[in-house]
Amino acid sequence: MSKIGNAIAVAGANFALVKYWGKRNDALNLPAVGSISITVDSLITKTSVAFKENGSGDSLTMNGELATGSMLARVSRFLDWVREMAGMKLSAVVKTENSFPTGAGLASSASGFAALALAASRAAGLALSPRELSILARQGSGSAARSVFGGFVEMRRGSRDDGRDAVAAELASPAHWPLSVVVAVTGLKPKDVGSRDGMTHSRETSPFYDTWVAGADKDLPQCRGAILERDFDKLADVSEFNCLKMHAVAMASRPGILYWNDTTVALIHEARRMRKDGIPVFFTVDAGPQVKFICLPEAAPQVKKRLAGWPGVKDLIECAVGKGVREWLGEGR
Ligand code: DP6
Repeated sequence: MSKIGNAIAVAGANFALVKYWGKRNDALNLPAVGSISITVDSLITKTSVAFKENGSGDSLTMNGELATGSMLARVSRFLDWVREMAGMKLSAVVKTENSFPTGAGLASSASGFAALALAASRAAGLALSPRELSILARQGSGSAARSVFGGFVEMRRGSRDDGRDAVAAELASPAHWPLSVVVAVTGLKPKDVGSRDGMTHSRETSPFYDTWVAGADKDLPQCRGAILERDFDKLADVSEFNCLKMHAVAMASRPGILYWNDTTVALIHEARRMRKDGIPVFFTVDAGPQVKFICLPEAAPQVKKRLAGWPGVKDLIECAVGKGVREWLGEGR
């Protein structure tokens, strides 16, 4: 084992095309369904972890502000798994920065826990394989297991009770199909119902939940096939279907969870209009009001033009398919 000290890691957010919604085990954070996502390059979390000899408890600074309460507790619990693996008990100083709004449906927990998994394990002197990193990241946040990898990524539901097979792997590299994603930011406030609570509430109260879980077995091979064949229309069809289904499950919970605002709905219609007009683009929406327009790269300027100045659109962020988590060794290295 190498020396215990400090490390910095960066990870990109990811957007699910076939979505993870529901857990088969809450304690181990095991998904009820497999999922497929694209890791992106422009929404980045950078995290540093330093283990200290004489520290008195972990500290967490997020975007320059000291975090306390449930966020610190979640990170500390995550660090406990790393400490256990490394056989040590040192406290950690964690500093993390997002290049985008936190907790607003832009997958901050995915990039956050992927970066934390790599930075904390390296700082603890561990050299984990990508598979082990993905399992570790999943314990922090299910979607984080996917941000360990770049390109197109599939997360397996797994069937083992210990979760060793609930792990992500690269399906295709960024170079396989260089799609673009234009993210229309329509709301900057952290959402009222986080994905974790939303999933539990859906499982407990939505009459559509069991149908949703059963449907993943059909959506996953279609999405996988569309990516491997680079079949844009097939990818658009299965992704929009899966996205609306996930939101239907959440909406049919009691009380219903509605992640969308007026602009989200208007933009979903606009995505469909654009496709009717011959622009190769489709939408997806996660647990928040932002709309992600996934398109062929040559269509990105047209998509941005159609969305520029749209009432309620606060920002447009263009992303390419990006790399997986990596150690940050300094600017330009
Ligand atoms: C709608 O990974 O944030 O973005 O495992 O409870 O931390 P936890 O949930 P999280 O859920 C992501 C939900 C989603 C769909 C997806 O990314 O697959």
